[in-house]
Amino acid sequence: MPALVLVGAQWGDEGKGKATDLLGGSVDYVVRYQGGNNAGHTVVIGDQKYALHLLPSGILSPNVVPVIGNGVVIDPGVLLSELAGLNERGIDTSKLLISGNAHLITPYHRTLDKVVERFLGKRKIGTTGRGIGPTYADKINRVGIRVQDIFDESILQQKVEAALQDKNQLLVKLYNRRAIPAELVVEEYLGYADKLRPFLADTTLVLDEALKANKVVLLEGGQGTLLDVDHGTYPFVTSSNPTAGGACTGAGIGPTKIDRVIGILKAYTTRVGSGPFPTELLDADGEALRRIGGERGVTTGRDRRCGWFDAVIARYATRVNGLTDFFLTKLDVLTGWEQIPVCVAYEIDGKRVEELPYNQSDFHHAKPIYENFPGWTEDLSKAQSFSDLPKNAQAYVKALEEMSGAPISAIGVGPGRYETIQINSFV
Ligand code: GDP
Ligand code: IMO
Ligand code: MG
Repeated sequence: MPALVLVGAQWGDEGKGKATDLLGGSVDYVVRYQGGNNAGHTVVIGDQKYALHLLPSGILSPNVVPVIGNGVVIDPGVLLSELAGLNERGIDTSKLLISGNAHLITPYHRTLDKVVERFLGKRKIGTTGRGIGPTYADKINRVGIRVQDIFDESILQQKVEAALQDKNQLLVKLYNRRAIPAELVVEEYLGYADKLRPFLADTTLVLDEALKANKVVLLEGGQGTLLDVDHGTYPFVTSSNPTAGGACTGAGIGPTKIDRVIGILKAYTTRVGSGPFPTELLDADGEALRRIGGERGVTTGRDRRCGWFDAVIARYATRVNGLTDFFLTKLDVLTGWEQIPVCVAYEIDGKRVEELPYNQSDFHHAKPIYENFPGWTEDLSKAQSFSDLPKNAQAYVKALEEMSGAPISAIGVGPGRYETIQINSFV
């Protein structure tokens, strides 16, 4: 059985954590392939709620081997406290594997993330402030610190000194901050070595052997398609590739090994941070979606911006990820609206546009063209099959499926693990 990828189809927070957890019983490995603790994946099992930032959501499934791939950026302090938090709740985390090639977030990355945002003022990205962008910048600039570096004091010393040479100039002379002494970073990071050593693995080899042994590998995206640094609403994006292609580079798996790409798609749209959002609602409907959907950031606690479903975005996600299926989440949140508008296309400078414009200014000018669908009032949370859904909810799902370009193979009707209607199996 080859690998499958699970990717957010909008701007994140689509319910990737829940979807990964649901698949946990039928997969052998769950790999995070990009992002870091900017992610906030919620998993609800019975009366227990877990918020995962850096760890793959599969860590909650007893038979899964959770893997942090080379494409992830790791804040070791956050990683260890997340592990300790799960251990305290009785979760066994000993099977975790971490790539030695993953890059480390350091205190200077966190500081730079925050000061750069402050300096951008009105033009800020609205990052999570976790040091994600500066860490990926260092990786590309070839001055990053990798997990493997903390096991060799002299290498770590040299690399941290080199990385701080220009950064300290910037911090002091441009941003009016104190310089960060290399020794302090080196001392702190050497201190993580013994704690991380048991998890260190050649993860690409492990995954290759697993696939050869017919194990099922699930690659879990950190963010959503529209936050992808190449395919998202640049510059209002994260600094890595959550789209399906990123799963190959971020896990070290060749594209020929992947046969299923599942897009997680909310029945409406949300976004956190700055940037264009054509269907955003700044009225009572937006407020109601936020309240009923519990749309508050898991990582930063910020209110999420809310709006109607945007089929142009869903089609785009199908295209750039090669989606084979959708997992439609939070359909239950739409219960109670008389009419549910869906954005079917945009109007840009007087013209009807069916596909996401690649030009940033066009996207900023895009006005949604809505089609209204009749709502329903019945509670959906007990629905176990498609036919249990009210007729209008069925019609809404079918319409989204037709517009979005891939079959909807599962429907979320509540946050719990089993509050899901499975239409086609994923594994
Ligand atoms: P992620 O970042 O993609 O994993 O998503 P988040 O966890 O940040 O946000 C999704 C939220 O919706 C979480 O609070 C989930 O528990 C919740 N959720 C997921 N699926 C459903 C669903 O089908 N219905 C409802 N009501 N909540 C859901
Ligand atoms: P999950 O895993 C929603 C957004 C930030 C900001 C932009 C860049 O919960 O889907 P960064 O700190 O990554 O440099 O911030 O990306 N962002 C997310 N928005 N959900 C996320 O993760 C996000 N991770 C990053 O709000 O706009
Ligand atoms: Mg989230």
